[in-house]
Amino acid sequence: MRTRVRHGTADAGMVPAVRSPITVRDARFGREARPLRWWVNGDPIATAWHNSLSASFPRGEAMFIEAVKAYREDAPPDLAGEIRAFVRQEVNHSREHLAFNRMAEAAAYDLTAIDKRVAGLVAETFELPRIGVLGVTIALEHFTAMFAHEFLAHPRHFAGVAEEHAALWRWHAVEEIEHKAVAYDTWLHATRSWRRTKRWRLRSLLMLIVTARFIRNRSRDALELLAQDGIGGIRVRARLAWYLLGKPGILRRILPQWCAYFRPGFHPWKRDNRELVEAFDTGAILPGAERSGRGFAPAEASLPSS
Ligand SMILES: [Fe+2]
Ligand SMILES: [Fe+2]
Repeated sequence: MRTRVRHGTADAGMVPAVRSPITVRDARFGREARPLRWWVNGDPIATAWHNSLSASFPRGEAMFIEAVKAYREDAPPDLAGEIRAFVRQEVNHSREHLAFNRMAEAAAYDLTAIDKRVAGLVAETFELPRIGVLGVTIALEHFTAMFAHEFLAHPRHFAGVAEEHAALWRWHAVEEIEHKAVAYDTWLHATRSWRRTKRWRLRSLLMLIVTARFIRNRSRDALELLAQDGIGGIRVRARLAWYLLGKPGILRRILPQWCAYFRPGFHPWKRDNRELVEAFDTGAILPGAERSGRGFAPAEASLPSS
């Protein structure tokens, strides 16, 4: 796989020389798929969490695009090229998750209220100065990159999921890894005249705020979807918390990389996971083909009793 050296950004010493080239794979998924209510292994908790994520993607990714495009004119040519590829990838992701969300609606979930809340959150973010919108974007792009790594490094997560759905999430994940540094490099460029401490303080503060809001909002929306399944109460809240923090524990598993964001010299490519992109492109990542010995079992298919 090719490697490149970044030129023209601030703090060149902070920016690793390795990164993945950004390939726009314009793919379509699941248009003919039969609507499935609990599409993640028959597990309502796992399904609600992923549907909650997917419901937020189209508007969220549209915001990321605007945040990064706002700085494209000023960017050096290599970064401007990466911004263009980033935009094309995110546009495709939004289109495919809109189609996926239609599948969830066809399975009788009502996403209207969730979509309205996400629209409100995006509108609220756009009230910030444009550098603030970019700061929120780099935090959320770090979340997508962390999730993407988990999905691809542990493909058993989607074992048992219909291939057209698993393929969508893997495709999205691999492109998130490829472009994980584009918003961040745009941030470094946009703040190149700032003192390092000022830049660190603002991005760290925004990450703390984004984290609290992300977990609260995605969990609330997942619980709302579970309520549409007729599943509610304290036990379901506890099961969602266990799903996120216990087993498989996606939030627990990303904790070290979340902490890494607060290092003064953080850069997304200081975690070199190009091998996941390569494995995807060569077909080595397939459902059920656990690549790492430290993977986790797929969620159990079960229905809470309350
Ligand atoms: Fe995306
Ligand atoms: Fe992204």
